[in-house]
Amino acid sequence: MTVIRLNNVRKSFGTFDVIKGVDLEINPCEFMVFVGPSGCGKSTLLRLIAGLEDITSGTLAFDEKVVNSLTPSQRGIAMVFQSYALYPHMTVYDNMAFGLKLAKGGADEIKRRVNEAAEMLQITDYLDRLPKQLSGGQRQRVAIGRAIVRDPKVFLFDEPLSNLDAALRVQTRLEIAKLHAKMHETTMIYVTHDQVEAMTLADRICVLRDGNVEQVGTPMELYEKPQSTFVAGFIGSPKMNFLTEKFADAYKAHTLGVRPEHLEVREKAGTWAGKLIHSENLGSESYLYIDIGAKEPLVVRQDGKPSRQPGDLLHVSPINDNVHRFDQSGYPARA
Ligand SMILES: Nc1ncnc2c1ncn2[C@@H]1O[C@H](COP(=O)(O)OP(=O)(O)OP(=O)(O)O)[C@@H](O)[C@H]1O
Ligand SMILES: [Mg+2]
Repeated sequence: MTVIRLNNVRKSFGTFDVIKGVDLEINPCEFMVFVGPSGCGKSTLLRLIAGLEDITSGTLAFDEKVVNSLTPSQRGIAMVFQSYALYPHMTVYDNMAFGLKLAKGGADEIKRRVNEAAEMLQITDYLDRLPKQLSGGQRQRVAIGRAIVRDPKVFLFDEPLSNLDAALRVQTRLEIAKLHAKMHETTMIYVTHDQVEAMTLADRICVLRDGNVEQVGTPMELYEKPQSTFVAGFIGSPKMNFLTEKFADAYKAHTLGVRPEHLEVREKAGTWAGKLIHSENLGSESYLYIDIGAKEPLVVRQDGKPSRQPGDLLHVSPINDNVHRFDQSGYPARA
């Protein structure tokens, strides 16, 4: 059980500041997810925690111990990357046992650990196969297994599912959730672009923006109480609608945010009215794009198939006044 503390951590590559003073505490056994736009520094922050990059200034501590100058293996971490580089000429078993052999584990101990990890990931039947005889999802599970056998205190994942197709992503996501439930001594940090992965796997999500922490909270805290338009627009899919000018003025805000799922179409007398310009039918739900005269079409989520035709005049209202008000700087507007 390890608590990870980052204190004013900075990282520069030459004159380029990538991580700009991050303060963050990751609790023992927590599943922490890093999200943020491409290039905001997620992988760099993970690599600093892993010890794969040197910290320019600030401190990184595991429990009370500053680990800035320790190597990855001294830190007791294991990392799984987006591209799982397995040794092609070795069986699944040998791929998983390889790191342990280097660490001079006894033969029985190695066998026990590999079998235990294989069982956890349901790859026991494939232990004698070569990587090329596996599907992408199975290979990624081997890569995760290779990290598990080392019994890390801290488990780091950098977009481990992004090379998998949609169905395999879902399946492997569930494996990772189960893994976290089983490895209750292990702290996990997970980088992803995927909303669903972030919302479903995380105990807490850390939203990064341009090398800084923008907000940290449980998935529901970020969804219900985003502390900036940046977080509001980043968490939730499809994206929150943002309205300005007269639409926001009516709510005494500079920017008004309303999620597509918090809007409903009414027969008459809604808060806003406009023509349906386009609809998307996903089967279980649909999205209506309505031109209410704002800069962007208003997106409204509906259960089932779209109930209207393009060109129809629709009235729309926020359900239960479920809106988010922001000031000029993009932070919550005062009442
Ligand atoms: N070794 C390096 N030398 C110079 N610049 C680097 C180096 N590694 C990363 N960077 C820069 O640091 C910034 C952050 O990169 P990083 O890989 O951490 O982003 P990221 O949030 O993981 O993005 P993505 O979502 O695309 O993976 C980028 O602008 C990148 O170009
Ligand atoms: Mg990255």
